[in-house]
Amino acid sequence: MQPSVRFPSSPGPVGIFDSGYGGLTILDSIRRRLPEYDYVYLGDNARAPYGQRSFDLVFDFTRQAVEELFMRGCHLVILACNTASAKALRSIQQEVLPQLDPDRRVLGVIRPTVERLGTLSQTRHVGVLATQGTVASGSYGMEIGKLYGNAMHVSEMAAPMWVPLIENGEAGGDGADYFVRKYVDGLMAMDPEIDTLILGCTHYPILLPKICRYAPGNVNVMPQGGIVADSLAEYLDRHPEMAAKCTRGGGVRFITTENPERFDSLATGFVGMPVRSEHVSLR
Ligand code: DGL
Repeated sequence: MQPSVRFPSSPGPVGIFDSGYGGLTILDSIRRRLPEYDYVYLGDNARAPYGQRSFDLVFDFTRQAVEELFMRGCHLVILACNTASAKALRSIQQEVLPQLDPDRRVLGVIRPTVERLGTLSQTRHVGVLATQGTVASGSYGMEIGKLYGNAMHVSEMAAPMWVPLIENGEAGGDGADYFVRKYVDGLMAMDPEIDTLILGCTHYPILLPKICRYAPGNVNVMPQGGIVADSLAEYLDRHPEMAAKCTRGGGVRFITTENPERFDSLATGFVGMPVRSEHVSLR
């Protein structure tokens, strides 16, 4: 089948996509690990949160975002979003890429996170905090089952209030404490033997100080940024043909479906560097 859309064939930046601000936590770690590459970050803030949306909508929104990033010259796109990785990645890889361009690649964040678990949990009891969509998809349980069989016990808890708090700039406020404690306590009550807590939503590291405050001291709280960054570095080492299609100028551009001024002020706080975004409409 002939690809139906023509994208720029020259090398381009690595694309990083999230429903909103959460993927910035992944971008930050990736840029520390691989500072030489160029990146373009796309936040679909106007339509965030994705967590409670249907499979069809998350798939549709994610497909639009991937196409936008391909149009902007990306050959490689990271879905820096667990909800999109859980609900859309497989269909994008199996159905969309063959039509759009079989040589481009889209990677997710769930598999690399699960691969790292084996080295982190001593008790082999892990907890996953994630959006309702990610929990309902059963993706973590399935991936953990594939890699570790019955040797790893997993308990999952949806934390549906966390992303709205973050997208509304309330992550540092006192009101957030109530909801952080509620979900952390709820998960620990499901299985007190948990020694590793996966933050299975890329927004959640923005609440990390509060999550660590309420998690028991012996529990290792695990954000995904470093894991995804290591996994991308390994991928590029194993695929020099893809690395050659990624430009190396150390630059980063930000695009958002929301108001850029609003994006800039919140994103600047989250990444600790000045952000100047531009607006895009996805369809
Ligand atoms: N950051 C996302 C994730 O990792 C999506 C959160 C949302 O939009 O609900 O799941």
